[in-house]
Amino acid sequence: MKKLACVLICAALWLTGCGKDDGPMPEDEFLVIAHRGASAYVPENTLASYELAKDLDSDYIELDIHLTKDGELVVMHDQDVESTMNASGKISEFTLDELKKLSKTSRYKDDKGMAAKGHAEMYAVPALREVFDQFGDRMNFIIELKNPEDYPGIEEKLMELLEAADMIGADGDGHPKAVIQSFSEEGLEKIHALNPKIPLLRLISFEDGEEAQLTAEEIEKLQTYAAGIGVSYEALTEPFISYMQQEGLVVYAYTVNDQETALTMKNLGANGIHTDRPDILEK
Ligand code: G3P
Ligand code: CA
Repeated sequence: MKKLACVLICAALWLTGCGKDDGPMPEDEFLVIAHRGASAYVPENTLASYELAKDLDSDYIELDIHLTKDGELVVMHDQDVESTMNASGKISEFTLDELKKLSKTSRYKDDKGMAAKGHAEMYAVPALREVFDQFGDRMNFIIELKNPEDYPGIEEKLMELLEAADMIGADGDGHPKAVIQSFSEEGLEKIHALNPKIPLLRLISFEDGEEAQLTAEEIEKLQTYAAGIGVSYEALTEPFISYMQQEGLVVYAYTVNDQETALTMKNLGANGIHTDRPDILEK
């Protein structure tokens, strides 16, 4: 019965355009995903952190997107600006230019000692289009939709940009150039309806101390739109990872910043880790 369900799901995925040629998430590789860039070493979600992530040979760069007051897709983690700038308010209350000026003058609060004079552009808040301009032909991205319910139309804007920047489809190695992840199932389903070829990862959180588990219904729902899931490493177990993979869902662990845990995740069979230290494992 399970086999029949699997065949039917695969056939449905193929018919909707999620075939191998579109670059599915690699199932037999352990991906090192640079979380907000190489954010252990340089301010997170900046061109500088992506440059270092590239130099450290990351498989993917993970970043977080929001919409500014003037409708620009911008890369920052928190919805409020306090944590990275000497200012207060929500991203949606600022234009891109205002955010750039703020980030260049007040700088990132936590500059890891690396925000050298004369490199302000590298540490300014980047628009997503600028990230693709600089790295689109060299790096692949996992793009996290943050709070999409607060940004009507963000899914359409993202799709338009991905198409314009030629970020849809696979790179020369067959890996998808752009993957979208979110804690928001609604946001992911909107993306799936707009373009079912883009691989999607559902982020799922579990209570502290709780082991990851999903019901058959939850898994079936995921299979209608997602290529896999992202789960905190603390909740992951070998049986859960293996069960998800049997059900056709890849599993990424977030956010792993020590080598021992990285190796544990690899040994448990996870498909990769999000890490602030993309040099955490030897290649
Ligand atoms: O990539 C997973 C992780 O990014 C989700 O958590 O808060 O770092 O965006 P956060
Ligand atoms: Ca994120």
